[in-house]
Amino acid sequence: MIKVYHLDLYKSQVKNSKIVLLTGDPFRVSKIAERIGKQFGGDIEELAWKREYKTIICYINKKPILITSTGIGGPSTSIAIEELAMLGIKTFIRAGTTGAIQKRIRPGDVIITTGSVRLDGASTHYAPIEYPAVADYKVVDSLIKAANKSGVRHHVGITVSSDTFYPGQERYDSFTRYVPKRFQGSMKEWQRLNVLNYEMESSTVLTLCSAMGLRGGCVSGVVVNRTTKEEITEGALKAGEDNAIKVAAASLEYLL
Ligand code: URA
Repeated sequence: MIKVYHLDLYKSQVKNSKIVLLTGDPFRVSKIAERIGKQFGGDIEELAWKREYKTIICYINKKPILITSTGIGGPSTSIAIEELAMLGIKTFIRAGTTGAIQKRIRPGDVIITTGSVRLDGASTHYAPIEYPAVADYKVVDSLIKAANKSGVRHHVGITVSSDTFYPGQERYDSFTRYVPKRFQGSMKEWQRLNVLNYEMESSTVLTLCSAMGLRGGCVSGVVVNRTTKEEITEGALKAGEDNAIKVAAASLEYLL
C-alpha cells in the first residue's frame, strides 16, 4: 500500500484521481472545494492535513478531483508534485494569487500563465536553467475557455516566478528596504519584456510537470498592481482569490 510521507496520504484515499488543483494556502483548499461543490454538486471529504499540506477530495460528474495546498514557494511545491505524481496524478493546475506589473491589469483580473521566468531554485534541481517552464497547451486552453465562460477579465502570457516575495520581486517595503543590485531595476526590465506578473510557484509547477511528462498550468488572481502600489488590501485579495478559484474550478470540466 503506497503512502506518501509529507502529504500523509494513502493511494487508496485518492480514488484514482487524475487531476489536482494546487494552491499555496491550506485555508484556501476548503474554499476551492466549496466552489466545486456549489458548481458541480458531489461530496467533499478532507483526506489529510500535515504541515502546509492539506488535501480534500471532491467530485465532478462522479469523477474525483484533489485539491492540495503546497505552502509558499518552490521547495514545498516540488514535494507536493512529487508525492501527488506517485499517487497517480497527471494534471496539476495551480490556482494562486499574484502581483501584476503591467498598467492595464486590474486587481481582481486573472493571469493565465503560458510560461514562467525561472527565478527559483527548486526547478533547477529537476532540469537545467535552459529548459523552459511552459504550461501544457490543453490546460492553458481550458483556463481561457473557463475565464470566458465565467466572465472573468483575464490576461494570457509570461509570469516571473520568484523564490522570494521581497528582493526577487523588487519590493522596497522590506525590513532593510534594500534590494540587492541583481534585482535593482528588474521590474522595469520584466515590464519591457512583456512579462505580466510576479508569483512564487509556477516555475516549479511547470518545469517539474514538463520534465516528468505530466500536464501543468497556472491561473493567478491579481491582488495588487505593482505599478501603482505595494500594499495588498483585503478587498483586492478577496477579488483576486475568488476569481482565480472560479476560473480554475470551471476549467476542470474541459480537462476531465
Ligand atoms: N504573490 C506574490 O508572489 N506577489 C505579489 O505581489 C502578490 C502575491
